Amino acid sequence: MSQSKIENPKSKIAAPPAATGLGYLTSTLVAPISPAEAALRPLSFADFTGQPKTVERLQVMVGAAKKRGDPLNHILLSGPPGLGKTTLAFILGHELGKNVRVTSGPVVEKAGDLAGLLTNLEEGDILFIDEIHRIPKTVEEYLYSAMEDFRLDIMIDQGPNARSVRLSLPRFTLVGATTRSGLLTAPLRSRFTLQTRLDYYDHATLEGIVRRSCGLLKVALDDEGAREIATRSRGTPRIANNLINFCRDYAQERAQGRITRATAAAALELLEIDARGLDEMDKRMLRIMAENYKGGPVGMSTIAVAVGEEAETLEEVHEPFLIQEGYLQRTPQGRALTAKGYAAIGLKALGSEQGALL
Ligand SMILES: Nc1ncnc2c1ncn2[C@@H]1O[C@H](COP(=O)(O)OP(=O)(O)O)[C@@H](O)[C@H]1O
Ligand SMILES: [Mg+2]
Repeated sequence: MSQSKIENPKSKIAAPPAATGLGYLTSTLVAPISPAEAALRPLSFADFTGQPKTVERLQVMVGAAKKRGDPLNHILLSGPPGLGKTTLAFILGHELGKNVRVTSGPVVEKAGDLAGLLTNLEEGDILFIDEIHRIPKTVEEYLYSAMEDFRLDIMIDQGPNARSVRLSLPRFTLVGATTRSGLLTAPLRSRFTLQTRLDYYDHATLEGIVRRSCGLLKVALDDEGAREIATRSRGTPRIANNLINFCRDYAQERAQGRITRATAAAALELLEIDARGLDEMDKRMLRIMAENYKGGPVGMSTIAVAVGEEAETLEEVHEPFLIQEGYLQRTPQGRALTAKGYAAIGLKALGSEQGALL
């Protein structure tokens, strides 16, 4: 079995936006995965901890498809960056013994690009489309018949010579990943047999992931060190793995190479990641809302201008965690700071009952 990497030269993940100085989190979560990180990627369900519901759903589908000798049905994985969507797509390929071809929504610009990808697949192979919500509408329409009937009617030539050519495709599986499932159109969404959402990991599961990664990297770490990294990783394995790298360097330079609670805490303070996993950009957002907008509600584009970051990045990278942990609320009028949000930046929510309780 071969797990092909990116073969279509156009299938590169778009370059990350320039780091802003405050952007540790952004550069961790938006950047393409590094080879060092790829080495930590679990290759089978047995290696992949957490996300029990999603994993069970996928295992049922894989088991059934293998027994029937059918290709797997199309699957949509959604959830914030760094939780394991790409990892699961590769695990599916590995468990099925099939190839995984990788591309990403914005790089499939024309129907011809899609045709090139699909006609190169073998029966049962997986086409993984990352950021599938960013696929151009004109290409999306071709996906419908490809997913449903395994055929592609494409127009070749233009003007009087234009004609439609029907390509029949191998029965493949589309695995789509998206950080913004709400942006997917209904017709595309309805063509996925399984839509499953990945959630942030709890601390105990992340601790296990931290121990596994340190084991693979041969980094010395004690239980409290693992816990410290886990609690500051905002429920995200990809962040945990990145923090491990920095903690390892820090431990080597300052603490005889061993990651303990104290070394992990000191290293992460140096990155300005606090005990709750909030970074400077998170706090800057909360502070702007409290100080300039009386806690909101305020629109994300306004916050974005005020903190000097793109609204899209804030929505994808920062906001989901802030909402899930109850620092922010989404209201029809915009984002509003909660009492917990005020507390995180050392302020009280003025005039609110909850604020008085703090
Ligand atoms: N359940 C897990 N167990 C161990 N490591 C994981 C898990 N999920 C993700 N990772 C690690 O986190 C990194 C990022 O995961 P990835 O699949 O690229 O996330 P996404 O595609 O959702 O942004 C991977 O390199 C992998 O090492
Ligand atoms: Mg990914």
